[in-house]
Amino acid sequence: MAKLKEVFPCVWEYEGKILTKNRVPGKKVYGEQLIKIDGVEYRVWNPYRSKLAAAIKNGLKTWAFHPGVNVLYLGIAEGTTASHISDILGDDSAIIGVDVAPRVMPKIIAVAEERGNILPILADASKPDEYPEEVRQFIDEVGGVDIVYQDVAAPNQAEILWKNVNRFLKKGGYAYIAIKSRSVDVTRDPREIFDEFRRFFESKGLRVVEEVNIEPYEKDHEMMVLKKG
Ligand SMILES: C[S@@+](CC[C@H](N)C(=O)[O-])C[C@H]1O[C@@H](n2cnc3c(N)ncnc32)[C@H](O)[C@@H]1O
Repeated sequence: MAKLKEVFPCVWEYEGKILTKNRVPGKKVYGEQLIKIDGVEYRVWNPYRSKLAAAIKNGLKTWAFHPGVNVLYLGIAEGTTASHISDILGDDSAIIGVDVAPRVMPKIIAVAEERGNILPILADASKPDEYPEEVRQFIDEVGGVDIVYQDVAAPNQAEILWKNVNRFLKKGGYAYIAIKSRSVDVTRDPREIFDEFRRFFESKGLRVVEEVNIEPYEKDHEMMVLKKG
């Protein structure tokens, strides 16, 4: 019989699939498969739909998503990846999810209402000083977020991450950035672009702790993990 193996706290592997325990039993977020094992319902985390799941499949080692941490999520969209992070982190965490697109708001607001640990905000992540006052205040009160997770696929991705990390990430915290080289320049070798990101972040005093290529799940993408302080 196949065994359930915990690969990170609250993240399991079962028959080659990655699973998180469903925080809202019976409910799917993006058409994912639900599996019941020993009376507990899990959601299958699809690496073709989520770059964080793709990074796990490809051997990601640095894991900071521990129950209780606070996350600033840039480019939350309709909550596909954020819903799994919500399963993992539980009640004592907040996932502050920023997205600039009004069209994603009805879905992410509905997902957030069901889950209770996601706070969606309609804002441009390149202008962190314009996030709602109460959000900035909350982050300041808790001494900064533990993780900044970014998946915005924009040409100025590196600057966007840095502005948020500089303003909101606590010292010792981690940033995860899904880099899409084609958003920067379709004609250049992706490796050159990833190296440019690395040099940019190092010039800001961040430490690049891990880089995971996420092909074949996403073409010309990598997940870079950075540490502040
Ligand atoms: C690839 S999708 C994100 C998918 C999502 N992270 C997931 O895994 O479920 C990129 C998202 O980034 C958002 N985005 C792009 N530029 C942005 C910006 N400057 N500020 C906030 N969100 C942005 C887009 O609206 C889009 O929803």
